[in-house]
Amino acid sequence: MVKFYQSENQVPLEMHKVRVVQKLTLLPVEERLKKIQEAGNNTFLLQNKDIYMDMLTDSGVNAMSDRQTAAMHIADDSYAGSETFNRFKVAIKEVFGTDHVLPAHQGRACENILAEAFVKPGMVAIMNFHFTTTKAHVTRCGGEVLELVDKKGLLPQSDDPFKGDFDLEALKKTIEEYGPEKVAYVRIEAGTNLIGGQPVSLANMLAVADICHDYGVLSVLDASLLQDNVYFMKTREAQCKYMSTKEIYHLLADKVDLIYFSARKLGFARGGAITSHNSELIKSMMEYIPLYEGFLTYGGIDVRTIESITEGLYESLDMDYISHGPEFIAYLVKELDDYGVPVIKPAGGLGAHLNCSEIVPNVPHNQYPAAAVGAALYIAGGIRGMERGTVSEQREPDGTERYAELELQRLAMPRRVFTLSQVKYCADRVKWMWDNRDIIGGLQWVEEPKVLRFFFGRMKEIGHWQEDLVAKFREDFGDSL
Ligand SMILES: Cc1ncc(COP(=O)(O)O)c(C=O)c1O
Repeated sequence: MVKFYQSENQVPLEMHKVRVVQKLTLLPVEERLKKIQEAGNNTFLLQNKDIYMDMLTDSGVNAMSDRQTAAMHIADDSYAGSETFNRFKVAIKEVFGTDHVLPAHQGRACENILAEAFVKPGMVAIMNFHFTTTKAHVTRCGGEVLELVDKKGLLPQSDDPFKGDFDLEALKKTIEEYGPEKVAYVRIEAGTNLIGGQPVSLANMLAVADICHDYGVLSVLDASLLQDNVYFMKTREAQCKYMSTKEIYHLLADKVDLIYFSARKLGFARGGAITSHNSELIKSMMEYIPLYEGFLTYGGIDVRTIESITEGLYESLDMDYISHGPEFIAYLVKELDDYGVPVIKPAGGLGAHLNCSEIVPNVPHNQYPAAAVGAALYIAGGIRGMERGTVSEQREPDGTERYAELELQRLAMPRRVFTLSQVKYCADRVKWMWDNRDIIGGLQWVEEPKVLRFFFGRMKEIGHWQEDLVAKFREDFGDSL
């Protein structure tokens, strides 16, 4: 943290500079209304050219460094046995200390392989919290996902530093109840995505790994959001303050059986991988790589991208880089909180999370409050967030809705991408939306896909609240964009 002389000027300070830029457009509000309605009120279906701030995700949209783009030029373009893969292995060894690695084209591809290899019908996969694609793969293989996040994790407003922690007693009880042989694996999700990017403490991760070891159950670390999580360990957990980032990564890799990650997040690039000290475990998954991904030394990832992951993995050890996302998010969360906007606290990694049940309490779960807030925010400012509420859940097998524990609209903070003035603009437009929350109404399905409906489902407004919101925007902002 760099201290400013005038404390009132204190803001997060970037330890990098921008050398490549991309032009943005901000459409007039009437156009924004048209675009969101054409997109079926699903922010996934908006076009990037129609968006001012793309806060949909932090996945695959992080800014690459000069070293990453430079590394892409030395990629060794061969189907098998490329030098590029050898350099990637060296980076994996440096970051995790592990010798064995299977590349896969992204995080969910790793999840597919883990599910194919370890989940059999009737088994359970235990996790602090599910991630959408993780759960879809487990259920596709006939398994069930059990979530054992500590109950503090579901409190929207809290000052607990590690809301992603497992309930350790519940973990032991659940393994005993089902019997270890029925547990496919226990998955620790670093930087728990769907509950607000909330971190898991090192102490909790190690305790989970120990419990798994005692019961003879496989432990898996989803390290996709580990770089944010490591930042929080170092800044919020006493035992980590004087540990290097590398020591933390290594300690975790020594304790858990398997690690997988999406390099769209960890590594500021694209792609993914599974790694372990245990060669037998890696062998048991090896056959799936050529089957689903590509040969063992590229796994469906273009060699230039592998070079960028390699460099990005080294950068994920660097506190100057990994602090940028969490510090910008903390800044946005503080601005929103000061404005009185209900936002998940404390600030986590990956983005700020608006608590939509409180923003639009008049919109019930079955009218999708988080999706409604997402549409309203695009109208308000050309800002694209992501629904992380009931729309992102799967219906129960009998077709009934499974209401989300938290109705969140996530405003992701792609790493090293936005300037602080853009973050301030975002806070300002959210504040306007909050002040006009009474106008916002619900949504109903027009087209609802059976699987991962949040990606391609289409909805429409109930009533005409969106037109009313546009009229109020014009009243308040005059001819401003
Ligand atoms: C925690 C976590 N695990 C897995 C994934 C899946 O990774 P990918 O998008 O690369 O398939 C994501 C993606 O957002 C994630 O946040």
